Amino acid sequence: MSAVKVALLGLGTIGTGVADILLNRVERIRNVTGRDVLLTRICDKDASLKRDIEIPSGVLTNDPELIFNDPDIKIGIELIGGIEPARAFVLRLLASGKNVVTANKALLAQHGAELFAAARQNGCTIAFEAAVCGGIPIISSIATSLQANTIQSLDAIVNGTSNFILSQMEDGGTSYSYAVKEAQRLGYAEANPAMDVDGTDAVQKLTILAQLGFGVDVDWKKVSRMGIESVDAIDFKFAKDLGYRIKLLAVANRGDEGLELHVAPTLVRRDNPLARVHDVFNAVRVVGDYVGQVFFQGLGAGRKPTASAVVGDVIDTVLGRAKITFDTLNLWNSNRKVVPIKRTDNFYGKAYLRFDAEDRPGVMRDFAAVFGKNNISIASMIQHEKNDQNNNPNKQNAVIILITHEAREGDLLKAIDELEKIPSIQGKIIRMRVQD
Ligand SMILES: NC(=O)c1ccc[n+]([C@@H]2O[C@H](COP(=O)([O-])OP(=O)(O)OC[C@H]3O[C@@H](n4cnc5c(N)ncnc54)[C@H](OP(=O)(O)O)[C@@H]3O)[C@@H](O)[C@H]2O)c1
Repeated sequence: MSAVKVALLGLGTIGTGVADILLNRVERIRNVTGRDVLLTRICDKDASLKRDIEIPSGVLTNDPELIFNDPDIKIGIELIGGIEPARAFVLRLLASGKNVVTANKALLAQHGAELFAAARQNGCTIAFEAAVCGGIPIISSIATSLQANTIQSLDAIVNGTSNFILSQMEDGGTSYSYAVKEAQRLGYAEANPAMDVDGTDAVQKLTILAQLGFGVDVDWKKVSRMGIESVDAIDFKFAKDLGYRIKLLAVANRGDEGLELHVAPTLVRRDNPLARVHDVFNAVRVVGDYVGQVFFQGLGAGRKPTASAVVGDVIDTVLGRAKITFDTLNLWNSNRKVVPIKRTDNFYGKAYLRFDAEDRPGVMRDFAAVFGKNNISIASMIQHEKNDQNNNPNKQNAVIILITHEAREGDLLKAIDELEKIPSIQGKIIRMRVQD
């Protein structure tokens, strides 16, 4: 069989790993596909930069037109990241009849519908296993092996950087800012880690998984999102006392009134398998009506795991498996069932609240009244004495930690708003979700 020519756009962290496999595992890939898969062009902004892999001469260029205009190249791998020019490049690849492999979740979350339409129009495919959870084969599992099921729920740790930061805070007892610096020192967090710690990255991945698993169309910007920035070292101590660990969970839940979607720091009961996922690891738990619970765990980022998923997609594309999957994907197509998305106000769940209050008679009665009025009942409560911030010996403060019973989120937010207006409650109330 003839060789298949492949091109790569973006020779950064993941691109280098992909080039390494494609250039150095030619025989293995030939054994699997029955063909020579040749990486004939690599385009990067800076073609003169020294790389830590050996690239045959004449392959590296800074001119993407050499890829778009070469009819012999059948597969384009987009590993530039971000929205532009990645979006324009993918559209050019598809317009020139090339199949696409990408790891770009931001691009898919924002422009998936447009790119999938262009692929269908041109008879091409887009494969994107690496876009969610790096090396974990979650896209192909939902798209193929779990197809017999109606998926009931999906909860996941999809951002390795925030999981590392939370693990450092819990295991090492470090502050949030120290844990962020440590993540940056080890190369797990970027100089500006905003998208990881504010939940944006997790929401984009959840949106892709939910669209695939539940056949819905979701705008990722409208998904309920809380980041980990306000989690304090003290929360881990209280969570531990109450039998929980803290994780940034991405959750999609099918209910009678529609699909509940959110990303939030969450107290996860210690015997829940998600509570045992540490450091930069990712995990996804899927519950299907026939299969029951399936749990995936692995490295969700990094050069080698992500490159492994990208090259898996290249092999699937060469074999024609990607075409079968792409043509049957229930994603950004016209025959999707409409599953309503639940309003955030109508989410139900337990909540963890932490706040500072003056420690004097009557204070508890005040906030108990607010909870009662808003239909919220308290499941457990811890009160710790605390020094007054101004060292005033006549003023006693307490930090109050409580877990509510299941409550409607709209009621909870109203109660928090009212509590923050009580003069004896100081500062903002810290809120997290709770999952048993
Ligand atoms: N890193 C991970 O662990 C990971 C995990 C899963 C998925 N992903 C996804 O994989 C993709 C690549 O991530 P990465 O970490 O490898 O990013 P990266 O290290 O920043 O690599 C991107 C490369 O593309 C180059 N580039 C930028 N603009 C270009 C242009 N116009 N033409 C050609 N090359 C251009 C960059 O050059 P300059 O450096 O000169 O700008 C850089 O070499 C992203 O979509 C990311 O979300 C990454």
